[in-house]
Order: sequence, then C-alpha cells, then structure tokens
Amino acid sequence: MSLYPTKYSTDSRVNERMIEFYRERACGGVAMIVLDCPCLDYPKAYKGPDELRFDTPEFAEGIRELLNAIHAEGAKAFMQLNYPKERVFKHEVPGAEQKGKIWVAPLAEIMTSDEAREIIDLMAEGAKRAREVGYDGIEIQASYGDFISQLLSPLSNKRTDEYGGSINNRARFLIDLIKIDQPFVFNVRAVYERILELGTNTVILGGGDTGCETADLISSETRNITIVELLDEPLQRMKEIPKQELLKRLKERGISIITNSKAIRIQKGKVIVEDKEGIQKELRADSVILSIGNIPADSLFDSVKGSLEEVYLVGDADNPGNLGAALRSSTEVALKI
Ligand SMILES: Cc1cc2nc3c(=O)[nH]c(=O)nc-3n(C[C@H](O)[C@H](O)[C@H](O)COP(=O)(O)O)c2cc1C
Repeated sequence: MSLYPTKYSTDSRVNERMIEFYRERACGGVAMIVLDCPCLDYPKAYKGPDELRFDTPEFAEGIRELLNAIHAEGAKAFMQLNYPKERVFKHEVPGAEQKGKIWVAPLAEIMTSDEAREIIDLMAEGAKRAREVGYDGIEIQASYGDFISQLLSPLSNKRTDEYGGSINNRARFLIDLIKIDQPFVFNVRAVYERILELGTNTVILGGGDTGCETADLISSETRNITIVELLDEPLQRMKEIPKQELLKRLKERGISIITNSKAIRIQKGKVIVEDKEGIQKELRADSVILSIGNIPADSLFDSVKGSLEEVYLVGDADNPGNLGAALRSSTEVALKI
C-alpha cells in the first residue's frame, strides 16, 4: 500500500485511530504498507502536529506500537524518507516568496552545498533510526515534485554548483544518499544488477568463476581489488584455457588474489582475513562483494512438484555452477527421459 498520509495525529504522536486505520489495512491482506515520513529535523523542518516525530524515545514508542500492530497482522511496514521541499523564513531572504507574514523558498534552489551534505546526513540518520525503531525498510521519495525530484528535474534545478547542470550533478544528492545508507557488503548479484556504487578498495570474497569474473568486470585504473580464496588456487572449476586467459588479465589489471585464506571478520572499512597458519591480515575495504555460498533457487520446483506427473530439477536450480555444468545436468536428464 503506497503512502497516503492519514494526518490523524494531533500532537505528532501515534494515536489509537491511526493504529486502527493501519491495522485494518494489514488485516485486509496488504503485504507492505508505506507509512508517513516522520520529521527528521525537529524543530527546523517540522511541519506541524499532524506530522509524526520519532526524535525522542517517547515519540518513537508510539511508532513502535504502530509497527507492532502492523507486524502482528503479518504485514511489513516501510518508512518514507523525505525532506520538506520548502524552507520558511520570518523575514525576507533572496529567492523566497512572501506568503502572508512569512517568506517561503524552495530548498532545492536556496540550499548551499554544505547544507546539502547536512541534509544527506540527517536523512541517513533518519534511515538508521527507522531500522532501530523497527521499520522493515525505507522508501526514498524522489518523485511527486518533492525536494529530491526538484533537484533531479532540469526544469526546477537551475543550480550551477555540483548539484546542478548535468544529470550526474542533478542526481548527486540522491546517489550520495543511497551510498550513505547502503550497506558496504553486497551479494555479487547486486553488482550485475548495477544497483550500487562500488568504492575504491573492493574486496571480493570467493575466487571461483563468479568472483574472478566479477573482478574482471569491475576493474578500473582507480580501483584496488583483492580476491580472497579459501582453497590453494582460484578458478578451480574453470577449464585450463579460459582459466589461464582470465588469470593473465587479472594480473595485468593489478588485481591481487590471496589464496588459502578466509575472511573471519568484516568491519566498516576493512576485512580481516586469516591464512592456514592462523596469521591474520587486514585488508582495506570500502566495498565487500560476497561471491560465496550460492544456494539453489528451487522454489518453483517445490511449488509444481505435486501437481505435474514428471518434474526434473536441472542446472543452477539444482546445484549452482557454471554454464557447462548446467548444460551437462540438463543433457543427462534429457537422455533419461
Ligand atoms: C491525498 C493523497 C496524498 C498522498 N501523499 C503522498 C505522499 O506524501 N507521498 C507519496 O509518495 N505518495 C503520496 N500519495 C500518492 C499515493 O501514495 C499513490 O501513489 C497514489 O495515490 C496512486 O496510487 P493508487 O493508484 O493505488 O491510488 C498521495 C495520494 C493521495 C491521494
């Protein structure tokens, strides 16, 4: 259920009426509800008593109760992450328009780049708080003519600094926000779906086909990549000719491969690895890509198994491997049929 602010609050607290409203939706079978964005910057960007607050334990307690009510019905709840698009002044300021006794200015126009970074930090802090309070996730509001969409659009964004002009500049705020809130450990799949920005120092855990090919894919002159492999040699499954080709390329690109080692700890900014002798080493890591422990996606098999006479499980769905292994397993099944 997409966001539809109830505005049921009268004192920035969750009340029984609001809980009942969302409980009804959750109980009606809605899988996920996006709730209002509470005020992230009180009192500077506070919209008034119908906006929820969660900046003190007392206010957060009400939101927890609301989340519990939604969760009890089996639904998930997301917080919408947004920031007011206008700033209100009691006096005249450049770029502001007078509305009665106040002056209102579009934030996307008047904010300085220092303020932009402060707002990113505030929003990232809000996202972190959302997790602590018990939301299941966040939705970033980047449409609807709101603050971020004003920055994205060349029609409203006439800035000449790093937040205006090219699409990269106009998207800078949004991308920086996503980067701050993004975990720095990803599954290798996220690299191929291109939903993230990798850091300068990238550590890939797992030196199999996927780990090494991913290193090859993401290598660039400005990125230091280290592959950590548990066995004494990477690419154990790959055939000799492509294997030597790939290893040569990785070497030419300055990618380091540490063998006989495993990651024992991942901390912000680093990975601690330990070799067979128990000697530990620290690797700098702005991003960590996990290319280990693939599990088959076989839920489709389970769901049709009982209803069809003959169903076979082949390829990655049976045992994640490479193209050759997938072709072999399906050929073997085909020969049996
Ligand atoms: C009165 C009203 C207020 C809304 N406020 C928001 C909002 O604050 N943020 C938002 O992302 N969407 C907002 N929406 C848009 C809804 O989340 C939704 O995208 C829209 O109603 C279309 O979905 P529907 O076809 O299921 O109604 C609002 C919609 C309505 C009718």
